[in-house]
Amino acid sequence: MPEPTVDVPAVPKARSCPFLPPDGIADIRAAAPVTRATFTSGHEAWLVTGYEEVRALLRAPSFSVQVPHALHTQDGVVTQKPGRGSLLWQDEPEHTSDRKLLAKEFTVRRMQALRPNIQRIVDEHLDAIEAQGGPVDLVKTFANPVPSMVISDLFGVPVERRAEFQDIAEAMMRVDQDAAATEAAGMRLGGLLYQLVQERRADPGDDLISALITTEDPDGVVDDMFLMNAAGTLLIAAHDTTACMIGLGAALLLDRPDQLALLREDPSLVANAVEELLRYLTIGQFGGERVATRDVELGGVRIAEGEQVVAHVLAADFDPAFVEEPERFDITRRPAPHLAFGFGAHQCIGQQLARIELQIVFETLLRRLPTLRLAKPVEELRFRTDMVFYGVHELPVTW
Ligand code: HEM
Repeated sequence: MPEPTVDVPAVPKARSCPFLPPDGIADIRAAAPVTRATFTSGHEAWLVTGYEEVRALLRAPSFSVQVPHALHTQDGVVTQKPGRGSLLWQDEPEHTSDRKLLAKEFTVRRMQALRPNIQRIVDEHLDAIEAQGGPVDLVKTFANPVPSMVISDLFGVPVERRAEFQDIAEAMMRVDQDAAATEAAGMRLGGLLYQLVQERRADPGDDLISALITTEDPDGVVDDMFLMNAAGTLLIAAHDTTACMIGLGAALLLDRPDQLALLREDPSLVANAVEELLRYLTIGQFGGERVATRDVELGGVRIAEGEQVVAHVLAADFDPAFVEEPERFDITRRPAPHLAFGFGAHQCIGQQLARIELQIVFETLLRRLPTLRLAKPVEELRFRTDMVFYGVHELPVTW
């Protein structure tokens, strides 16, 4: 069988509009929704950009998450090693049973019960922002600390160690550094998590780690390593993602006065607005990586066992076959099943919590600061092209 030819010499990353997908990705999707491409690491792999094809890939059992190369980093070295409880780096059957143990703690009911606490955290941060007076950096004062506080509360992280967790979470999400730097951040996180697990074992509370320690565990898998892996994945996955959506979502809303006015006039639109923000911004900007565990057909193309594949969820969420006029940002759009939380076995376990947080955040922010506006033009903002999740590095605002 001949080697597949490379049709995309470099996967596009540059954006002429910071709120739209990279230039050229729509042409690639239209020409070939499954195609060969060269990635940042210099490796060749399959690039999947069509909505139906990405869904088919993410639900297929014939792909593993234990990829040989990190395609989106500069050196291609994989730093994460799969372990029990880590979910993102596990395949079935362990993934299925470990996810079941964790999912018990993420019921819609339990997440809804967090509402008052999230509202309090949001209000306290806005009190401080109001007292300080504008202009402020909304990323530093609000988008970063709010999700960090929510997940730290859920995990019982002591107040004095929260800043360090936040620092590590950021260090682990860079793609413009070598594998050693990412690994060093991972080691620091491991140390903090070990301490946290030992404290919860000695003195259980009503937090999520204590709940996992005491959960029914017929196979005896919930040991220290399981707890550290699970807590590490959850902390990292919950913090940076939600922070990016708050910062970037606020930037987009403040840049679109017509949509902002609609939401200010009718706050009951907030759930709808959050779904459109999630779709439009789909912050997992490079897409999820998988490797074929056997020869398989995807979108009419044959993928051989051992070949790597990227599910470009951002391109998929702008597929006109999925959503009409994808480039129109419209908070009144009927919510469609976007792929911002992924799809299939690894679909985001924290999506209910993320939705609740984002709804409370945007409703409260616009109500409490009704004249909120950007203090710097969008063209001057620094966007997170150097991180796994897209967003803004700073967001100067005033009111
Ligand atoms: C707006 C915020 C969020 C976004 C955009 C987001 C996005 C995603 C995506 C795309 C995946 C799938 C990754 C893949 O298939 O390779 C995922 C998985 C995951 N997310 Fe989220 N997430 C968010 C918030 C959260 C929160 C708040 C939590 C926890 C409280 C969380 C925990 C997880 C975990 C544990 C997984 C792995 C699930 C598995 O592998 O089975 N996420 N998330």
